[in-house]
Amino acid sequence: MQCVKPINTQMKYWKYLDLNWRPASLRLREYALSRPEVLEPGSYFKLQDHADIVNHVPEVVEMLEPLKIDIRFIAFFVQLTNNCNIHVDQDSQYTRINIPILNCEHSETKFFTSSKGPVRALEASGVPYYYYEPEYCTCVSSYKLDGAILLRVREPHQVVIHGDHYPRISCSIGYKQDLTHLLDE
Ligand SMILES: [Fe+2]
Repeated sequence: MQCVKPINTQMKYWKYLDLNWRPASLRLREYALSRPEVLEPGSYFKLQDHADIVNHVPEVVEMLEPLKIDIRFIAFFVQLTNNCNIHVDQDSQYTRINIPILNCEHSETKFFTSSKGPVRALEASGVPYYYYEPEYCTCVSSYKLDGAILLRVREPHQVVIHGDHYPRISCSIGYKQDLTHLLDE
């Protein structure tokens, strides 16, 4: 499925945030690659001990300072194959902040509308998740993760990797505040 010409919609699905993300990204890459469990197959979503990250990588806290938010979780999203399902994230908030860690320049994050509701499935770990069938989906927006990006995680989305650039690792940060309004500015 291509998203060569995304359909223009009123909704803004993502935006760049003017944050000092590079120092955090470099240190988080070292942190992720020094932990074998991060690269283990299974779940894409590798929730981290966020107090440990804050300790080892204070650059994450410094990066987020301008937003005045309270971190709720930090996770690595690790992709070892070309496609992940079109899905919505199970999160109490509508948005998250993602920054690139490894190989993200060869990937595309796509957003969709779907004419059919989601299908319930189980991850290898037994955790339920919901995915959308591609034949009912229309790509409406996309981005390449090459900065700090605020995105709507409760709209159907998917990460596609172009070429054999694995693993693709991003860092996903959840927080207590609702930042949806930033997408309307
Ligand atoms: Fe997601």
